[in-house]
Amino acid sequence: MDLFEYQARDLFAKHDVPVLAGEVIDTPAAAREVAERLGGKAVVKAQVKVGGRGKAGGVKLASDPDDAVAKAEQILGMDIKGHTVHKVMLAETAPEIAAEYYVSYLLDRANRTFLAMASVEGGMDIEEVAATKPEALAKIPVDANEGVTPEKAREIVEAAKFPADVADQIADILVTLWKTFVAEDALLVEVNPLAKVADGRVLALDGKVSLDANAEFRQPEHEALEDKDAADPLEAAAKAKGLNYVKLDGEVGIIGNGAGLVMSTLDVVAYAGEKHGEVKPANFLDIGGGASAEVMANGLEIILGDPAVKSVFVNVFGGITACDAVANGIVQALELLHSRGEDVTKPLVVRLDGNNAEEGRRILTEANHPLIQQVDTMDGAAERAAELAAAK
Ligand SMILES: Nc1ncnc2c1ncn2[C@@H]1O[C@H](COP(=O)(O)OP(=O)(O)O)[C@@H](O)[C@H]1O
Ligand SMILES: [Mg+2]
Repeated sequence: MDLFEYQARDLFAKHDVPVLAGEVIDTPAAAREVAERLGGKAVVKAQVKVGGRGKAGGVKLASDPDDAVAKAEQILGMDIKGHTVHKVMLAETAPEIAAEYYVSYLLDRANRTFLAMASVEGGMDIEEVAATKPEALAKIPVDANEGVTPEKAREIVEAAKFPADVADQIADILVTLWKTFVAEDALLVEVNPLAKVADGRVLALDGKVSLDANAEFRQPEHEALEDKDAADPLEAAAKAKGLNYVKLDGEVGIIGNGAGLVMSTLDVVAYAGEKHGEVKPANFLDIGGGASAEVMANGLEIILGDPAVKSVFVNVFGGITACDAVANGIVQALELLHSRGEDVTKPLVVRLDGNNAEEGRRILTEANHPLIQQVDTMDGAAERAAELAAAK
């Protein structure tokens, strides 16, 4: 989960990374009081989860509280690279900036380690620095067990060739930033710019943090950081039901058990769809090993609630949960949806294979539900589901 700058700022402050005061607002009128609290002058900053806000006109200096209202008015509602600005942060204005640096920590998946990156060429697009002047971007692996000790911080400072007058401060910041990275279970923490200002301080003026969703269970405070407005309503509903669901933009709803099977189902449906009006998978949904009637009903409810869905492909390979249990689950799920008042009208193509497949098929045949069609092969079922979606 990527955070907004103001949320990154709050986490930095919590872990003693030096930041300036800042408050987030969503109406121009609210800017006046905040600017007054910040001493009159303020930097008004668009809160969108995309870089390059400054260049796009999303970071503006306000000279007094009236001006802060005017600047907030200009920035709220602005479109920055396809992101509409719904909130702005008013930040304390840094004393004159003498230099802008870059520091970050991230998970380096390819090398199975963590990586510190640092550069004296901050402020601008770091991807550009990496591409045009790779020698100016120091990359130092960080051992997960050792972390960033004061000695390691020194090593990073030296590798990036930070000037002597800021070396101690940056080394301290590297240690506190690492604490932020670990304590918050982040996948990325980035400060750009890390600015040296006129009074000699080094401050984090912009922050980017990405949190690891797999650590949610031990980070109860992170839930409040989620941007509920931006979430897809179907994905949010699926998440609330504990389902592994990703909305896609096609017409064939997909339910399967096991992530690998669901992924290959997406492929075969996309392939079959090429012959049937270019229909595509409408979602990824893995109901996992259990696949009880309730889980099946919840999954079907989400998928059938997607107005783009024209047909559904239920692809199950019986393993620990045998096909007869899944077949009963499907039948009961349709009854459950009916009793919940859901009007199910979309055709379901079901393919059962694996453990107790025959018994499962018999149960579905006997149920004789008008919307259920059985096809015994995965390719055949994909073909049928695509055809049904195209016909609608
Ligand atoms: N609080 C601040 N005080 C003074 N200048 C700032 C402040 N915040 C940002 N800036 C200036 O604006 C530039 C762009 O802001 P930044 O927050 O880095 O946004 P982005 O990276 O999205 O363009 C910074 O490089 C810095 O020069
Ligand atoms: Mg920046």
